[in-house]
Order: sequence, then C-alpha cells, then structure tokens
Amino acid sequence: MIALNGKPVFPGLFTPLMITTEDDLEVINQALDGDKHIGLVLTREEQQEHPTVADLHQIGTVARILKRINLPDGGMNVFVSTLKRFRIRKSLSGDSPILAAAVDYLSDEEYDTDEVRALTRAIISETKQVSENNPLFSEEMRLNMVNIDHPGKIADFVTSILNIDRADQQEILATTNVRQRLEKVLVFIKKEQELLRIQKRIQGQINEKIEKSQREYFLKEELKAIKQELGMPTDAKTSEYNRFREAIQDLPMDPETREQVEQELEKFQLMEPNSAEFTVTRNYLDTIVKLPWKEPPRRDLDMRRAERVLAADHYGLEDVKERILEFLAVRKLKNDSKGSIICLVGPPGVGKTSIGKSVARALGKKFFRFSVGGMRDEAEIKGHRRTYVGAMPGKVLQGLKIVGERDPVFMIDEIDKLGQSFQGDPSSALLEVLDPEQNIAFRDHYLDLPFDVSSILFITTANTLDSIPAPLLDRMEVIRLSGYIDEEKIAIARKYLVPRSLLRAGLNKKAVKYSKAALRSIANDWAREAGMRRYEQMLDKIHRKLARKQVSSPDLPEQYQFEPQDLEQYLGKPNFPEDVVKQITRPGMTVGLAWTPYGGDTLIIEAINNPGKGTFKLTGKMGEVMQESATIAYSYIRSIAGGYGVPADWFEKNEIHIHIPAGATPKDGPSAGITMACTLLSLATGRRTRPRLAMTGELSLVGQVLPIGGLKEKTIAARRNGIKQVIIPMQNEKDLEEIPDHVKRGITFHPVSTMEEVLPLVLLGR
Ligand SMILES: Nc1ncnc2c1ncn2[C@@H]1O[C@H](COP(=O)(O)OP(=O)(O)O)[C@@H](O)[C@H]1O
Ligand SMILES: [Mg+2]
Repeated sequence: MIALNGKPVFPGLFTPLMITTEDDLEVINQALDGDKHIGLVLTREEQQEHPTVADLHQIGTVARILKRINLPDGGMNVFVSTLKRFRIRKSLSGDSPILAAAVDYLSDEEYDTDEVRALTRAIISETKQVSENNPLFSEEMRLNMVNIDHPGKIADFVTSILNIDRADQQEILATTNVRQRLEKVLVFIKKEQELLRIQKRIQGQINEKIEKSQREYFLKEELKAIKQELGMPTDAKTSEYNRFREAIQDLPMDPETREQVEQELEKFQLMEPNSAEFTVTRNYLDTIVKLPWKEPPRRDLDMRRAERVLAADHYGLEDVKERILEFLAVRKLKNDSKGSIICLVGPPGVGKTSIGKSVARALGKKFFRFSVGGMRDEAEIKGHRRTYVGAMPGKVLQGLKIVGERDPVFMIDEIDKLGQSFQGDPSSALLEVLDPEQNIAFRDHYLDLPFDVSSILFITTANTLDSIPAPLLDRMEVIRLSGYIDEEKIAIARKYLVPRSLLRAGLNKKAVKYSKAALRSIANDWAREAGMRRYEQMLDKIHRKLARKQVSSPDLPEQYQFEPQDLEQYLGKPNFPEDVVKQITRPGMTVGLAWTPYGGDTLIIEAINNPGKGTFKLTGKMGEVMQESATIAYSYIRSIAGGYGVPADWFEKNEIHIHIPAGATPKDGPSAGITMACTLLSLATGRRTRPRLAMTGELSLVGQVLPIGGLKEKTIAARRNGIKQVIIPMQNEKDLEEIPDHVKRGITFHPVSTMEEVLPLVLLGR
C-alpha cells in the first residue's frame, strides 16, 4: 500500500503517482513483480512521515500499475488505473516499513433506484453549470462525465475534481451507499456554486473599480495634456481652491453668509477651469476674500492730533475746520461711528477734496474718492448681478476692496450732479449706502450678500445744494466753503501751492521766489475765480517753462525772483478783462453781485434806449425768474421815474434794451432786481452810478428790497473786484457776522429795506 499525504484517489480514474520514498519504491517494485496491484490509502494526519497501517484511514482504493517512468534524479512516476474501494481488515506489515494489509473489496450499494437516477441527473446538470464558470473543467472532462454510465462513478469523478477538503473527500470515498454518496456530493456542488457566485460578484466589483479609476486616470492625463498644450498651469484650480478655502475660513462672517460663500466655493471646485462660469466664480470669490470683513479696530479719536493735522494741511478755513472738529467730537461722544454725513459745498478748487484727505489723515484712516457726477445707473453704486457678462461690484465695495479696511473715509464727489435714468435711480442707491438704518447690511447686487458699510465715514462734495435730492440732503451736515479773497490766495500759494508745484516740476524749493505783488498779480490777472485750481495751473505753467529753460541752458541763474512784470512772459496776456469798476463809463450801467456754483461773481447790467414805442427787450441768457424781476424793475421805475425828473412820456417814446454781458453764461435768480432798477433809472435820468459800488437784492413791485442768498460768496467776489461799497437787503445784515473780518475789510455795507434808500446811494449828480 502507498500512503497518500494529499487527497484520496477515487476509483475509475487514470492518474499519475509520484513515488518519492525508498519504501514506496519498494512497494512498486514488489507489485510489478507480482500482479501489479497496489492499495492507495489516505493518511489520517496530513504530512505524516513513515506512517504505519494504523495511521491510515480504513477505506482506500485499489489500483493497477499501467506504466513506470524512471526519472533522472532517481525518483519514479507511475501511471495507474484505479479500480475499486477496499477496507483494511488487518495489518500485514509486521516489523517491515513496507505497508501491507489484508483487505475486503467493497461494492457500491443502492445504485439502481429512481431516487439515485434523479440525483444523478441533478448532479450532472449542476456540474455543467459549475463547469462553465470554472476553467478547471476542461471540455474533455465534461465529455468524460457524460460518458460515465454508473451513478457511483459520477459521484466519485465529480468529487475528485471539486475543490474540497481531504477529510470531506475521504468521507465520500468511505460512503459505499451510492444514494448517500450522491446526496453528499450534491451539497458540495451547491457550495461550490455559491462560492463561484460570490467570487464572480467580487470579481465584478473589482473590475468595475479598476475600470472607473482607469477611466478617471486616463481622462485626467488627457486633461493635463490639454492644459499643457494651452499653456495653463495644470493644477491652478486646486491651488486656487485651497487659497480661497483658507482665506474664507479666517473671515469673520455670520453663519448664513458663510454657508452661501462655502456653497459657492464647492461649486467652484466642480467647475471646468476652461469654462466662462469658472472665471466668473473665481472673480467672485476673489472679491469676497479681498473685502474687509474684519471688524475695524477701535481708533480713539485724538482731538489734538486731528486739530494739528487739519491746521497743518490748510490755510484759513477756520470755520470749516471748527465744524469738522465738532462733528468728530460728537461722533466720539455718541460713541458710535454711524450716522450723519458731512457735505462740503463750495466752488471748485476751494479745498473740498483736500479737506477730505486731511480728515482721513487726522483720523488715521484710509481715503477713497469717487465721483457720482453724471452717474445715471444705480449699478455703478450697487453693482451688476453676477449673471451679467463682466459684472462688477459697485463703487462702494470696489472702494472697500481697494483700501482693504472697513472704516475708511469715503469722499463722494459731485453729489449735486447725480443723474437719473431708466436704469434705476442712483440717488436711492446712494441713500442705501448713506442711511445708517440700511447700511449695516448693504446689499450689492454683485456680492448678493449683506455687507456692513456703516463704519465708513462719508464726506460728500457739491458745488450747490439746489440740485441735491432732498432725502440725501436731509441726512447731511452741510459745511460751506465760499472761496478766497486775494490775501488768502497769496498765503495759500506761498505756503502750499508754490512748494508743491516746484516739486512737481523737479525744481529746487529755493530756486524760485515770488514777491507778494507777483502772487497778487497771478490772482488778479490770471486766476480770478473763487478757488485755487486755476492758480495752481498757472504756477505749474511757470515752473514747467522754468524747468525747460534750466535744462536747455544750464548756465542760467540759480535763483529766480518773480515780480509782476515777469509773469506775462510765462503766462501770456492776462485772461481777464479790465476791472468791472473801470467799465462803468456812462449812464445805464450798474454793478451787481451774483452767486453761481462756481463762486460769487460781479456782473454788469447795462441798458440803452432807442426811439420807439414803450417796449422793453432783454438779452444775455436770463432765466425765467430773472426776466420776471427785470419786468418788475421796469414797472417799478416807470412808476416812480417822475419823482426823479424823468419826463412823463419818456418810457412811451423809447424802446429799452437791457443786457447782461458774458451772454454765454446762463444767469438766473431774483437777486439782480435792485441792480436792474438802478440801471433803468440811471438810463432814464442820464445820471451815472457811483463807481466801486455794487449791490444785491430782490425787488418787490412796490419797491421793497427782499433778502438774498450767498452773501459771503458775493462779498468775496466784491473784494476780488475792487468794490468798496455794497448795498445789501436789511434782512441779510445778520449774515455779515458770519463773514470773517479780513474778508469784509475795506468794504462798507449799506443795509436797506426799500428802493427809496437805494437810489440816493447809487445815482451820482448830473
Ligand atoms: N485753504 C487751503 N489751504 C491749502 N491748500 C488749499 C486750500 N484750499 C485749496 N487748496 C489747494 O488747492 C487745490 C485745489 O483744491 P481741491 O481740494 O482740489 O478743491 P475742490 O475739491 O474743492 O475742488 C489743492 O491743491 C488744494 O490743496
Ligand atoms: Mg474736488
């Protein structure tokens, strides 16, 4: 007998056997010498060395040796045909290591019943199924199986190729009852099928995973290649995504806002970097992380410092500085930075912008400025919705993004020139920005999230209050800047404008000196308006020319001293006509004072008479109100002219023409009423008006002088034009207090209530 260490061998097979041990060789040799039969029996234990008969299972298989093949290494292969089961009855080995036993041959029992036939069929069909999915079953084996005619053999064959334990196989070998054997095998086949099913499922899942990851891998590689081809950084999106995510984590936002932003961020991660949407979302996120979400730092107002900065940056303007300091103090006491907005009103070039900057500097805040002049679309303030191509946030958020702090000083220029159109009303948008009730949660269309803009200190500027929408004006603290007289201009020029202009031209600070007379001449002859802008331009013009001279001929004097007569060479002929006072040369001419958005001004009202039929003509671009007041003046003078020795039919026989030169500039308002009346009476009486005298006042039909506005600007204009006496309405007398003494110096004011008081002051003797 040969002991099998692996698995049992079933009857009815042709199979090779490896013979490795000396003892087994001896068994083969003895068998070949005899009837060539050997017994094959499984050891009870696996890997048993030198087993005895007692170490073997009781049931084995008898086999006939068909062929012996000697191997080169001394081993041997034999080919056997297995025949039948046997049971060991008794060991015959004795002391010999050779295994030998007396056995009983066993035959199959109960193999010819209907039940067995049914079981056999079941096994055949089940095995077919298994074999289709199992590569271990070759085609040949399948055919083989169909040809086996005995149910017991079929069970044996199937068992021998099933992948089951040695113990289980041995049990089947030991089962001589065929029905029972078939039943057991059927169970194993079912198990095998189950195993195969699970194996198949797992296989499928693995394949799927592999396929998916492979697909992704290939697509990613392809995408990378495309990006490289287009010169795009391959993982820009990821790095940008990470940058945004980190930045957003650190931003202090309320939970709802954060949730919305994070949703946007997740969308961004899923977007194709080449899509238009991607750019839109990236810009959006970029805006979000650049906006100043952080609560602004507490800045304690240092009143002394504020005072110092305001004083250092500007000459004069004492009342303005005072008002601003008061404003800041109130804000500090109320201990909230919200509410009330400053509105600086005044002609161009009087320092509105520069005061705004100065306030920012005094408070240690950032400064941002934008103009709303001519703005017609509310989107400029509130932004466009993101769905628009090239949409951007409005000016307010843009400004915050630029300064990067939540509490800057914002200057909104030209609030009096705000437009209106079908694209929404920018003034109501501006109101949302400025209104403390609304601006804690300002909603820009682009951002589409509430953003707190209430910490911004708003300063608006305007030339006139007339055209500022009332709801806006209500929320503003108006501070007026009226313009400068010559003395102020000279001081501002000397201290601020000349040094700055020299610097701009690249000239040495000490290289140029102006005499006071020269500075006055610039103000008088080239830059006569209320503000300093033109003055500054004139200085720049001089310095540019000087710079050029210096570069082209370096041997020029190191220092220039400017006197009035040197200016024309640099600035050309004076821009301004003769003084108004010198123009009053004949009866029918009077000097009036006017207020304009560009500051106060003098205007000459002139009149002539031609023979005619008591008609009356107006030219010089007079507005409706002014035309009315001309009519009133005409009627009034006509009614009283007799008292001044004017012939009763004078008006009937004359056609009178009133004109205001500088006809291109529109003029309006009632305040030239008394001036027109004086002109008419001067014409009718042939008496000239007093030189260096100007006037302002509305005239009523019965000869009362009614109050006017803009007295300060008008006074400044009078000063600038060499006027010595000014007639004003009595009711404006109180306003004189608000005009600084240095502005009023040298002017005599004549407050009057009726025209009867005016005429003697104005008309000279014949
Ligand atoms: N009181 C002043 N002191 C010093 N510089 C002044 C003063 N007023 C105006 N300026 C200067 O005049 C120029 C024009 O002023 P700006 O602020 O632009 O006027 P606005 O904004 O009112 O039109 C600026 O260079 C400004 O610094
Ligand atoms: Mg300005």
